[in-house]
Amino acid sequence: MTIVEIINVTKSFKDTEVIHNTSFYLKKGRIYGFVGPNGAGKTTMIKMILGILKPNSGKITIFNQPVEHNSDNILSRIGVVMGPSFYGHLDAYENLKLIANMKGLSFDIEKLNEYLSMLGLKDVKKKKVKNFSMGMKQRLSIAASLLGDPEILIWDEPINGLDPQGVIEIRRLVHFLHETKGITFFISSHILSELDKVITDVVIINYGKVEFFGSCNYLLQEYNSKNLEEAYLSCLAGWR
Ligand SMILES: Nc1ncnc2c1ncn2[C@@H]1O[C@H](COP(=O)(O)OP(=O)(O)OP(=O)(O)O)[C@@H](O)[C@H]1O
Ligand SMILES: [Mg+2]
Repeated sequence: MTIVEIINVTKSFKDTEVIHNTSFYLKKGRIYGFVGPNGAGKTTMIKMILGILKPNSGKITIFNQPVEHNSDNILSRIGVVMGPSFYGHLDAYENLKLIANMKGLSFDIEKLNEYLSMLGLKDVKKKKVKNFSMGMKQRLSIAASLLGDPEILIWDEPINGLDPQGVIEIRRLVHFLHETKGITFFISSHILSELDKVITDVVIINYGKVEFFGSCNYLLQEYNSKNLEEAYLSCLAGWR
């Protein structure tokens, strides 16, 4: 089942086109890596999927509904990580509670505690977020994205700034959520060796154009490569 569909999408900022007539789709239960060089258009694409930015042309649907009608009922089915943004003067627990309220979710103290534990934040839940390290904020972003049991998690650089233990914990979390709840993931990251451990499918974007879209197996075959990093470099270098 297709849950996100991007059809011939183009996006310009002023007169610079940064996404060119791009199409791909996300199927339920798959784990997509969204990769490409700095400035390729990943964050822009993610913002369009979420309805934060509007394409100049083309169409995006989520759960078979156009993004522009992106009502609360769609947003509550999506969990997002996009750079930590929290209230510094509130603690971790209060921030999650606030986000749950804003998403219109019923307050579930056990769930909040479970997410904080899962992300290794149980001991610091009463600490003000302004005193969090970057990795702790990143963990809190991931916890926040899980509120409301979303069907799809869209994570823009989720493991930026995480310590090695944190990276392993997130890897386990992805596997756990995928296996137990069949959650779909769309994860943008530059850490290809790590993505390689979790993803089933890849979207490679370069200068606002999709250069590859398909399963990891197909990617490795296509570029006669041993791993994601090698295939990625070959794809972008135009080697075959
Ligand atoms: N609000 C904006 N106004 C003007 N240009 C923008 C804006 N946002 C992004 N861009 C430009 O669009 C292009 C794509 O940027 P984007 O942030 O989507 O890249 P990215 O793939 O997420 O890069 P990174 O890997 O560094 O996060 C870049 O050239 C960027 O300068
Ligand atoms: Mg980005």
